[in-house]
Amino acid sequence: MTDADLGRLDGLTGFAARTLDLLGEVGVGLLILLETVFPPIPSEVILPLAGFLSTAGSMHLALVVLAATAGSLAGALALYAAGSALGRERSIRLLARIPLLDREDLEGASRWFARHGGRAVLLGRLVPGVRSLISLPAGAERMPVARFVLFTALGSALWNGALILAGAALGRRFDLVDRYSGWLDAAMIAAAAVAVGALVVRRVRRARRRAGARGRSETGGMKTPDDLSVLDALHSTPARRRLSREPIPDDVIWAVLDAAVRGPSGGNAQRWAWVVVRDQVVKDRIASWYLEGWNAAYGGRRDAFLSAEPGELPMSARAFLGAEHLANHLAEAPVWVIPALLGARGSTDPLTGSSIYGAVQQLFLAARAYGVGTNLTTLYRGHEDDVRELLGLPDDALTMCLIPMGYPDGGRWSEPRRKPLEDVVHWDGYGTRRERLA
Ligand SMILES: Cc1cc2nc3c(=O)[nH]c(=O)nc-3n(C[C@H](O)[C@H](O)[C@H](O)COP(=O)(O)O)c2cc1C
Repeated sequence: MTDADLGRLDGLTGFAARTLDLLGEVGVGLLILLETVFPPIPSEVILPLAGFLSTAGSMHLALVVLAATAGSLAGALALYAAGSALGRERSIRLLARIPLLDREDLEGASRWFARHGGRAVLLGRLVPGVRSLISLPAGAERMPVARFVLFTALGSALWNGALILAGAALGRRFDLVDRYSGWLDAAMIAAAAVAVGALVVRRVRRARRRAGARGRSETGGMKTPDDLSVLDALHSTPARRRLSREPIPDDVIWAVLDAAVRGPSGGNAQRWAWVVVRDQVVKDRIASWYLEGWNAAYGGRRDAFLSAEPGELPMSARAFLGAEHLANHLAEAPVWVIPALLGARGSTDPLTGSSIYGAVQQLFLAARAYGVGTNLTTLYRGHEDDVRELLGLPDDALTMCLIPMGYPDGGRWSEPRRKPLEDVVHWDGYGTRRERLA
């Protein structure tokens, strides 16, 4: 390209042309690196120009594609590192502050990313705007670096190659690429507008649903239980692991425990104690033991749980993220109940727990009626002796679980998913199955 040609190009194209003239293929790599980190600089301008210049003989076409891809990769790795430094939990917390985005949606996106991250990174490279940003969730989710590099290099080579070749084919009219790619940008903006619209509708509906649910339990200052049949409650009491800090009134706690102790115990001995914990210092201490237990049992296998096919591992990716959330936020639940059996310490009787777990389930169902979420947890058990001491329980007591209670903050009163009934029901002896007739 002559100096006169260069002089005619102004603005960004002029700057890109002068850089390429000066630095050749290295200039392509540097400009694309910049473009990746600062998306407003358009590759639709730089790459067709580089393609055109390579046909004019000042650069080698294959090296231009290689340099551009190396630039994309370097920029993408910088953004990946930024995402990784922030981490998943912090990213979600930050994003959840943006109006219209809430934790539930973000965690859904995170689950989706954990399963389809490779494809997202590959295809994302072909979409303006998304091209750069996709590296951030990949980093936050700590996608394996080799996988990230492979898909980024592949996607970027495709995108860069296409623009470079288009510029080479169009010759001096290379600027047409930028002009026509405007249509692509317009389509992206339209798609984003539709997505935001859908998000607004979803949020409004959800807010209405929640207001409805809360309205029922708030009648009479949150003291009136939902009008729920026993069977409805049985079918809509899943483990609730995302709980708000909103306090639970004392009378609700009393009512729930009053329902719990109607449960069965051998000989109606009721050798139990129901410890209500609200003291933050006690909760923080036990929560740290719980987190230790979580990390030892599950936390270390995060990637395996999140990328497993459905049914491959005992816990689904969704349940894992819920349990992980609870492990990190246990101390925030406003109330815990820790039921303990007296005289049960050291017991080897496999039926020991049957003298309290029925009552525990009654607690769950009563809490459900008041709109309070619960879950049965045990991962603090590596510190059973410490917990007993901290709570001042008698020496012979055995804690049977820890129940965090709180008004749900995300999730639904969905029907718990279980294996098909016909597969687990045996008639008059193991192995005799019957079909359930509607
Ligand atoms: C003995 C026992 C121990 C459990 N321990 C924990 C635990 O430590 N942490 C946790 O998040 N959930 C724990 N759970 C809850 C189960 O994960 C939950 O009941 C199961 O996933 C079914 O959930 P769903 O009713 O929502 O489908 C425990 C449940 C039982 C019965």
